[in-house]
Amino acid sequence: MKQKYWSNHKWVTCRSKLPTFIKWSFSEIHKVLPANKKLSILDLGVGDGKLILSLPRTHQFIGLDSCKEQLDLADLQAKKQGTKIKLILSDFTSIPLADNTIDVVVSNASLHHGKHKAIIFSEVYRVLKTPGIFIFADFYNEFGRKYSTLINNNIKKNKLFAKAFTKSLCDTYNDIPMEVRKNHPEEYHVDPYKLLTLLSSAGFKNKILPGYDPAYSIICARKLEAQ
Ligand SMILES: C[S@@+](CC[C@H](N)C(=O)[O-])C[C@H]1O[C@@H](n2cnc3c(N)ncnc32)[C@H](O)[C@@H]1O
Repeated sequence: MKQKYWSNHKWVTCRSKLPTFIKWSFSEIHKVLPANKKLSILDLGVGDGKLILSLPRTHQFIGLDSCKEQLDLADLQAKKQGTKIKLILSDFTSIPLADNTIDVVVSNASLHHGKHKAIIFSEVYRVLKTPGIFIFADFYNEFGRKYSTLINNNIKKNKLFAKAFTKSLCDTYNDIPMEVRKNHPEEYHVDPYKLLTLLSSAGFKNKILPGYDPAYSIICARKLEAQ
């Protein structure tokens, strides 16, 4: 299956540097990984591989994306840094991997493109080993549309964290050329609390990590032995 992502522009190449909120999500994802273990890690919506290729090279990497051009970028990036990565062209709703084979599934800024969250979550649950970890960061509002409300609300609450995030989100958005924004694929935003319910239905035990922001949050869910 082929899908163009932001046509002539690439999500990654249109950003001059990693914004604060992405750096934050990467560092939270790094923290959750069990230390001193060689893990099989799958990245859903791998893009150019920025997240997965930032993890220690001792792990075994798999990147899935529905866009061939993005996978080519990830391949190039992996070769540049001498890291092995298996790349899969597929949709989130159909992960062509065997049951119980993956230790950790990660994802950054991608799952809002998936319309059928319940199917995605059950696919992730299926491929994860027990115990297994699913950790993902994502936007929970339509990118760009609700910023004025967010800024006002966050500033009213006067939370330094929220202010920094909102600024970083706005800077990123302003960084992306109009032509790119127009060609952005469909987004299917779901409230994080609704996502927690869907994750529970798929079998996960879950929680939101500290640092919840109405615009961008991280959710960590675990596949555990039945009790
Ligand atoms: C905003 S980019 C994020 C890329 C990367 N995770 C990062 O943090 O830079 C979203 C990615 O999700 C991919 N994507 C969108 N819809 C998808 C789907 N239904 N199945 C698989 N990948 C998808 C896009 O091709 C794109 O590479």
